Amino acid sequence: MRRRTFIISGVSLLAGIMVPFGNIFAYRKDEENESIWLELLDYARWSPSPHNVQPWKIKIISPVEAHLYYDPSRVPIVVDNTSAFTIVGMAMFIECMRITALAKGYVIDAIHDKEPRLNPEGKELRFFAKLHLRQTDKKKDLDPQLIKERRTSRLQYDGKKVSPVIINKLSAIAAEYGHTFTCTADNNLVHDIVNLNNETELKRADEKPTMNEMSRWIRTTDKEAEEKKDGLWYRCLDVSGKMLHNFIYHHQRFRSGWKRMLTKKMLDKSMHGTANMAWITGPFRNRNDWVQAGAMLQRMWLTMTANNIYMHPLGTVVTTSYAKEELLKRISYNESKGELWFLIRIGHSNEPQKSYRLDVKDILIA
Ligand SMILES: Cc1cc2nc3c(=O)[nH]c(=O)nc-3n(C[C@H](O)[C@H](O)[C@H](O)COP(=O)(O)O)c2cc1C
Repeated sequence: MRRRTFIISGVSLLAGIMVPFGNIFAYRKDEENESIWLELLDYARWSPSPHNVQPWKIKIISPVEAHLYYDPSRVPIVVDNTSAFTIVGMAMFIECMRITALAKGYVIDAIHDKEPRLNPEGKELRFFAKLHLRQTDKKKDLDPQLIKERRTSRLQYDGKKVSPVIINKLSAIAAEYGHTFTCTADNNLVHDIVNLNNETELKRADEKPTMNEMSRWIRTTDKEAEEKKDGLWYRCLDVSGKMLHNFIYHHQRFRSGWKRMLTKKMLDKSMHGTANMAWITGPFRNRNDWVQAGAMLQRMWLTMTANNIYMHPLGTVVTTSYAKEELLKRISYNESKGELWFLIRIGHSNEPQKSYRLDVKDILIA
């Protein structure tokens, strides 16, 4: 036994003599960097995405390079027909990695693929961007912990207005990216937008292609939510699993009559206490705009989290042409000054249910 220990330590000593010191350090650095990618992913996987589809996949190429792909089967192309919002989500994921990397002394350079829109066809993963890690002296600005704390709140809000100090902070972030953040506390306007959103959601749900796509991402039981670790869990939507199941799978019952009225009432009630509506306007025409918008949106959302503010995106109004026209009329906004691409209610609420995420191993490409 003793002899065996001696032989092993003798071999290690010899190896130590034969391997130059520089190589030992290089090896240690590599190991450290490999684990940095994993650590970045462990934060970035908490990034938000439309319907919680989490389309991202990562291949670690080297200690300083990783390739980001997307899964075409996770692109919800009916509700996001240009894939703009899924690209925004991919960019939010990169921004989460950037924020985490900066806290560890690195910046990430991203070189994007030229594909103008995401392609939802086929089974093969599709390339999105090359990511390079580079050391920096820059100081961290946002705490990565916020990435894990951030949530969407679809709960009732408490009726208090968001302070002008916070609104100014959000406006300043938008301005850095050439966008405008506008917030209203006008009671009638807030009420009208809630109503417009809820009516539009009901109308869109009557469309078969929308409903088919939604049914793929709805999680009506705890078991399904926990197993799949993606999609919209009924607890996050703050409705009963049974109600959600019936609404999606027996939708004909909700097309008219008392069930429809009741659903509208439920939707309206779920938004009680909303004191502020806000929207973002700016460049939103092509892939580069969507990538920039995603980075900005992530920073704005984390800034809300840092200030104990929740938000709830009201995407249906923006992605439904007749509803958007109505909104633009209501707020007297002309899009020649920049596209209105994001509408949210914003405020204070109880802590919402944390939604699931895929594990790091599910995101990694071997
Ligand atoms: C670009 C984008 C658009 C979104 N649009 C909507 C929306 O229209 N309605 C909604 O309820 N949630 C929307 N969400 C929120 C996502 O559904 C949510 O982030 C996801 O389910 C994960 O939940 P979490 O934010 O609580 O972690 C959107 C998120 C992103 C990133």
